[in-house]
Amino acid sequence: MALTEHAVTFNDAFAKHSARSHELFESALGVLPGGVNSTARTTYAGWDPYPLFAAGGEGPYLFDVDGHHYVDYLLALGPLMLGHRPQAVIDRVAAEVQRLGTMFALPYELEQHVARKFLQAVPSAEAVRFTNTGSEAVGSAVRLARAATGRQKLLRFEGHYHGWQDTVYWSNKPEPELAGPSEAPNAVPAGPGVPAGLADTLIICPWNDPESVERAFAAHGGEIAAVLTEPVMCNTGCILPDPGYLEFLREITRRHGALLIFDEVITGFRLSLGGAQGYYGVQPDLSTFAKALGGGFPVAALAGTWPVMRLIADGRYSHSGTYNANVVAMAAVDAALDELSRPGAYEELHRVGERLMVELRTRFTAADIPVQVQGLGPVFQVWFADRPIRSWRDAREYARTGSFRMFWEEMVLRGVLFHPNQFENLFISTAHADQHIDETLAALDDALPVLKARLAEGGAATK
Ligand SMILES: Cc1ncc(COP(=O)(O)O)c(C=O)c1O
Repeated sequence: MALTEHAVTFNDAFAKHSARSHELFESALGVLPGGVNSTARTTYAGWDPYPLFAAGGEGPYLFDVDGHHYVDYLLALGPLMLGHRPQAVIDRVAAEVQRLGTMFALPYELEQHVARKFLQAVPSAEAVRFTNTGSEAVGSAVRLARAATGRQKLLRFEGHYHGWQDTVYWSNKPEPELAGPSEAPNAVPAGPGVPAGLADTLIICPWNDPESVERAFAAHGGEIAAVLTEPVMCNTGCILPDPGYLEFLREITRRHGALLIFDEVITGFRLSLGGAQGYYGVQPDLSTFAKALGGGFPVAALAGTWPVMRLIADGRYSHSGTYNANVVAMAAVDAALDELSRPGAYEELHRVGERLMVELRTRFTAADIPVQVQGLGPVFQVWFADRPIRSWRDAREYARTGSFRMFWEEMVLRGVLFHPNQFENLFISTAHADQHIDETLAALDDALPVLKARLAEGGAATK
């Protein structure tokens, strides 16, 4: 059958394209579980039959070990906001490490200099604590919200991801059979080992559905410590908040004495210098940052208003970490924020990304392949679906994940890289310019006839 021929053609082509990656993957399997160091890089997360092995990168390009270069929209899943190897950040990190060393378990002056820059950028932030990963920042935010309110329950949304800590590693992408009714879903642990008892601390709602949140507050108002949300849902493809939805979450949390936490690990310093809160003009009580903040270096932040952050200041809440605000992290943030503060940086990022989004829509429409290009210039997804996707349940029901995979296959062989999983995103960096969009579109023009034929042959199998 023709589909099988195409699949065989891809498998053969990919085997030739990435022989060294394959070799390295086979050898990694003996020492690294799954051959990699994070779930999103595994075969079962989409990198089947094996992930490409990176050999480096420069600006908007990633190089693989087989000698190819790709226009990179994976961008390390978001951190490479300035592209690969941004010289200003690397120079600053090297200079500060040479000057200071790497860490002290004592405060040092650079931390407060960087904190002031951060606070100037993030509208709701009156104080900030730096840490290392998004998961750490979110874990702290949730516990701090409980400490500040004296309440236990956390309201969060199906299809969002907030890191791997037990308190939030729930209902990321639950199977509907386990998750139950879409208007009032069950809390479903995202994997084994998560203590079942934590289910009692969670209220799960569908996103972009104010009524479900109203109902939850009507039933549990006095018990809810916080509402935790990605302000743009970037962990089920890309789904924008409906107009007024973030404002609604702000209002209802305030009305019930609960805190509003924005998990800006993806949106922070990406949608604008002030993150999603700056972009949408809605101010949470607490927010978490990572990824774009460090310009490619590992660093995260927990930011908040003084009434909440004072619990850390006076020792009622312990926020600790050996590596917090180490010199590498602080120098990276210092330089990254300088780069991102350049006049016009975000206007250009949005323009370039939106140009790509528009061109994708136009070309897919001309090819008569129904897709929904959803998101904003700096982060978006091409949904293979006939209707807009507004929630995890929509994504599960209407997204043609197999079709997306074919799109990925045809693009990766033509030098364009993004994550092969429909539920991830395409990211743009400040290093992406019109010429890189042109290259991407040339690859797409070449790929579309083949993709169209494959989709036509696949029929139902392309779901
Ligand atoms: C919204 C969000 N929160 C938290 C995290 C966890 O961050 P990290 O992987 O740095 O622990 C992620 C990671 O992708 C994320 O997308």
